[in-house]
Amino acid sequence: MSSNYRLLVKNAKQVVLVCNNGEKYLTKHGMQNLCVIENGSVVIGGDGLIKAVGPAEAIWDRYSDASFDQVIDAAGMCVLPGLVDAHTHPVWAGDRVHEFAMKLAGATYMDVHRAGGGIHFTVEHTRAASPSDLLTSLRSRLVRMQRAGTTLVECKSGYGLELQTELKMLKVIEEARCILPINISSTYCGAHAVPKGKTVEEATDDILRVQLPRLKEQMSTGSLQVDNIDVFCEQGVFDLSSTRSILKAGKDMGLNINFHGDELHPMNSAQLGADLGALTISHLEEVNDEGIAAMAKAKTAAVLLPTTAYILRLPQPRARDMLEAGVIVALGSDFNPNAYCCSMPIVMHLACVNMKMSMSEALAAATINSAYSLGRSHTHGSLEVNKHGDLLVLNATRWEHLVYQLGGHQELIRYVVIKGNIV
Ligand code: NIG
Ligand code: FE
Repeated sequence: MSSNYRLLVKNAKQVVLVCNNGEKYLTKHGMQNLCVIENGSVVIGGDGLIKAVGPAEAIWDRYSDASFDQVIDAAGMCVLPGLVDAHTHPVWAGDRVHEFAMKLAGATYMDVHRAGGGIHFTVEHTRAASPSDLLTSLRSRLVRMQRAGTTLVECKSGYGLELQTELKMLKVIEEARCILPINISSTYCGAHAVPKGKTVEEATDDILRVQLPRLKEQMSTGSLQVDNIDVFCEQGVFDLSSTRSILKAGKDMGLNINFHGDELHPMNSAQLGADLGALTISHLEEVNDEGIAAMAKAKTAAVLLPTTAYILRLPQPRARDMLEAGVIVALGSDFNPNAYCCSMPIVMHLACVNMKMSMSEALAAATINSAYSLGRSHTHGSLEVNKHGDLLVLNATRWEHLVYQLGGHQELIRYVVIKGNIV
């Protein structure tokens, strides 16, 4: 006979709710003042949603262990919301370990790209790969992310640059969504690079006239679920005007605008995004003050990617300036063949050391604000009643160990829970 409740996590030394007033995002003050319960418990119902969270004695009075399918005694441990990775490119074939050596020897990201490597190298291999090979590698990458504490992840297409392969990638993401417990937000990124032999105008035309209409058709029949639209807005890739028309067409189809902007050159991508009502802009290493102000005003989330700045030795994203200006700052791993990192705890660590965020700012950025950047903060990103029962149990008496420790998190993260199931 099944019981009423799925999981009780009891007697935790700390339960970090992150926030508890139904906030959809946090800005600087809220990020610095996270909601933490000392000696707390969390109740997750049979539907996988949080039913109660509070001081252990109060939960003890209302619920008996016998009504739960599973009970975790978290004495001496900490509970946090599952981490949300706001930006990844996890579907591809062919690694680029050889390019890492080139970059260490001084080649820039765009040197490699213009020489036909980088995204183009991955496109060639991904076009040739079978859906089942792509699914196998995607699955193992997502499991690695999950083990490092990620319970909701954004996954982009973008290594096809033509209809057939872009659809193949999106379908593989869709399959992963069905077979794995990790929550997925999927992004069409057909404008990730201009295909070899085409001009920007031709590539834009193909996206507007061929790819997006077909995507729309597949979405309307329910055979594909896509949440966001992305463009790599960059010198030598998609300029402001092509970026605008692609993003606008995606928005008209009901997709959230969530794109790469102001990464390698100042492009005024932030102003463009704010003007279009973008939910999210990623990278922003080269954003200017006007762009920051426009994003704060438009409530466009800034997804900062410390691994990319680190690996490519770029200027650090201006996290402090953004926080001071009231921007909603979120974090992502940017997992891709250039930045091979599946771990949000490492991302938070880098955000603190290199971008000068505090540990509580980094945690808010990797939970409630990343969830906001995917339009999911009403259901994910904090431990609040009626949200998904997605949480981590840390084998440490203070939650900050998740950020403080650099690597080796499999030992630290004792349990990863998604919708009340230990995964
Ligand atoms: O976010 N900048 C563009 N896109 C990715 C890199 C993708 C790749 O190099 O394969 C990024 O860093
Ligand atoms: Fe990216």
